[in-house]
Amino acid sequence: EKGGYKHFMAKEIAEQPVVLADALRHYLPKSGLNMPDELDFSNIDRIILIACGTAHYACAVAKYWFEEFARIPCEIDVASEFRYREPPLSARSLAIFVSQSGETADTLAALRYCAENVAKTVAVVNVPSSSIAREADIALPILAGIEVGVASTKAFTAQLLVLAVMALKAGRDRGQIDDEILSAHTEALRSLPGLLNQAMSLSEPIAKLAESLAEAQDILFLGRGPMYPLALEGALKLKEISYIHAEGYASGELKHGPIALIDRSVPVIVMAPHDRLFDKTVSNMQEVMARHGMVLLASDAKGLQIAGDGTWAQIQLPEIAEPFAPILYAVPAQLLAYHTAVAKGTDVDQPRNLAKSVTVE
Ligand code: M6R
Repeated sequence: EKGGYKHFMAKEIAEQPVVLADALRHYLPKSGLNMPDELDFSNIDRIILIACGTAHYACAVAKYWFEEFARIPCEIDVASEFRYREPPLSARSLAIFVSQSGETADTLAALRYCAENVAKTVAVVNVPSSSIAREADIALPILAGIEVGVASTKAFTAQLLVLAVMALKAGRDRGQIDDEILSAHTEALRSLPGLLNQAMSLSEPIAKLAESLAEAQDILFLGRGPMYPLALEGALKLKEISYIHAEGYASGELKHGPIALIDRSVPVIVMAPHDRLFDKTVSNMQEVMARHGMVLLASDAKGLQIAGDGTWAQIQLPEIAEPFAPILYAVPAQLLAYHTAVAKGTDVDQPRNLAKSVTVE
């Protein structure tokens, strides 16, 4: 059942190229975007994305896409805050609920709060028979197959893929994205299975780095733009299974506090493809190195060539279209967490105190 892998998590990380290829066949067939007709963004004036944990970070990435491709104001929240805040809703909002299990209590309660009070509720779920899928107006399956590891991996990248196609549809429905850009983006999404496959070859070198990371007390993750939520996800994954304290920050926030933590013992993992804000991230990284922080830079060939000097370690990813980098960089983030936990000897698939599905508050 683990298909020759030591842990379900390792198997589920490795399955991602195939999972994404399946989801692409469904949502981006040759004929174009395949999304239900009733999912129409033309008269929507706001998007609300609600979830918990890793699914919330998928929403946080998607916010960048909805705003960039469709120019729709987009709000994200964790379900437990949203439901009790009882925010005002508007009839022209579209509310999206993301949940692997489809049974998370807070997310379900947030969906019930929105039902009847927004234009449409949409569920992005892995389990099509789940409560969240049944109660939403529209349910979009992520088609990831059963996820056993408590640490969510393939569900995260599959959620991102479905949200990316939704954001492209939103851009098209609203006339915000021209055909040329739309086809460039769909091509980029179609290249993901191959790119994720290449990223899987990083498993061995990452396992070596993980031996040092396993010694750390605290680890920081930095990212900018859509890579910022990925930094949060990398930190969550690592703390869940290795029990090392980890935090994700927007790179630009470093000097507003967390830089005080930096010394020789603190690894700082910078997730930074060579994008339009790369120079700014490099200067944040140099501030860390000036304080003897151990920088691990994950970037592409160009980024590493420009900024690799003085780093403790480097991870080279293939090049990818800027908006979709979080989908590719999820793989090294997951592998870092996985191998660090293995090096520490913790229970990777059943970490202490955690349940796969949080059906009580
Ligand atoms: O089933 P859901 O996607 O609604 O679960 C949400 C979170 O409980 C879940 O993502 C949790 O954070 C994972 N353990 C993360 O790896």
